[in-house]
Amino acid sequence: MAAKRAQWGSKIGFILAAAGSAVGLGNIWKFPYVTGQNGGGAFVLLYLLAIALVGLPIMMGEILIGRMAQTSTVTAFRTLAPRSGWPLVGWLGVIAGMIILSYYSVVAGWSLHYIYLSLTGAIGGADPEAVKGLFGSMYGDVTLNVFWHAMFMIATAVIVIGGVQQGVERAATILMPALFLMMTGMLIYAMTLPGFGEALDFIFGFRLDQVTGATVLEALGQSFFTLSLGMGAMLTYGSYLSKQDDLVGSAISISVLDTSVALMASLVLFPITFTLGIDPAGGPGLVFQNMPAAFAQLPGGAALSTVFFVLLSFAALTSSISLLEVVAAYFIDERGWTRRQAVVVLGTLIFALGVPSALSGGTALFGARFSELTTPLFGLVGKGGMNWFDTFDYVASNLLLPLGGLGIALFSAWRIGEQARRAEIAAGSTLGALEGLYLTWLQLLRYLVPLAIITVMLYALGIFELLGLI
Ligand code: TRP
Repeated sequence: MAAKRAQWGSKIGFILAAAGSAVGLGNIWKFPYVTGQNGGGAFVLLYLLAIALVGLPIMMGEILIGRMAQTSTVTAFRTLAPRSGWPLVGWLGVIAGMIILSYYSVVAGWSLHYIYLSLTGAIGGADPEAVKGLFGSMYGDVTLNVFWHAMFMIATAVIVIGGVQQGVERAATILMPALFLMMTGMLIYAMTLPGFGEALDFIFGFRLDQVTGATVLEALGQSFFTLSLGMGAMLTYGSYLSKQDDLVGSAISISVLDTSVALMASLVLFPITFTLGIDPAGGPGLVFQNMPAAFAQLPGGAALSTVFFVLLSFAALTSSISLLEVVAAYFIDERGWTRRQAVVVLGTLIFALGVPSALSGGTALFGARFSELTTPLFGLVGKGGMNWFDTFDYVASNLLLPLGGLGIALFSAWRIGEQARRAEIAAGSTLGALEGLYLTWLQLLRYLVPLAIITVMLYALGIFELLGLI
């Protein structure tokens, strides 16, 4: 006999948990630096369009599949399309979840280490150049990386063992409001800085002349990752919804919350960047090198830096919970494992999978050998010489997630019967019952979304460059 399936305790609990999945390193670390590299406003405008026209429709489709099937990703596809190849889309997601979590946890571990550094006075008031150097010494310290990676995986596992209501939902209802509060505090601080005006202009000055094909595709790719789409995270969370819950309204709330945090993060980071004359196009080092160096020079830097890295760790934690939940739910729903069994076994496996990433991206383990291996594989598209960490990120973000997203879009827009789909969207939702809105959503999901995903994937795989088109 199957036990009664878990459900969210409240409507807001689901929204916070799903927003927690969406809001992560992608918003606070990646969005600001990609915005910086792409000249600011032009990128932001395209990103907002991508969220509305591509991200939101997929999110609705993904939650729809989960709520309709009332079960997690692989099982959902099999329930709705028996004896077909569709469960493969679910499988892709489970594998992507394991891969992403393995290195996501390593980066989140860095964030934990920076809380420690902030608290022990290594950042506030220290020499900025020395603070920048902290990253290099941390990256090279194998024991330290494995330790924080382990701590972060344990925190994630403990929460997921707690279950849907007592674990995932409860963590989100504590961590998400705390995150918003800290972000608001930092934003108010950033508004007092002389560089705030310049930052506003940089982020919201829509310079359309700076838009290139690559900017469009970059914005699309980011909209996808930031909303946690394409691997069944939203599907699995949607499976804990009841038919009375408003699917359309929730998807809109989640997207708005996620976008707000990305914009707020930029409104915190760029005023600091401009005030201290740091290059906004500095790339991935923005959060772990330039920001700490900036905190070193600002009054109250130790406190600011502590708050910032606690905030970053909270954001990462609510995302990693969703990654582990997708993987665990598969073994619970499909294989009949207990939650504890699933979390302990898979948590350990994913931890192990992440260890090479923690060993200086794999170089401490394989030397140059692993990177040499990736050259014949990806060298053709100009991505040769990647270490373990880079390879995992590349394969998951550019191959598995877009493929999963494509599968989810096609399945929800073409495979599910028209009547069932219409009823599912309208159930519990005033907006979902609007004919015009339903048809717009369906057309976007049927045509624009698949086209956009295929284009982004070809771009990310370097095919356009290969053909000399970009
Ligand atoms: N959205 C998260 C971020 O922005 C990352 C994430 C969590 C994710 N779960 C996901 C991305 C599922 C893709 C799929 O950092």
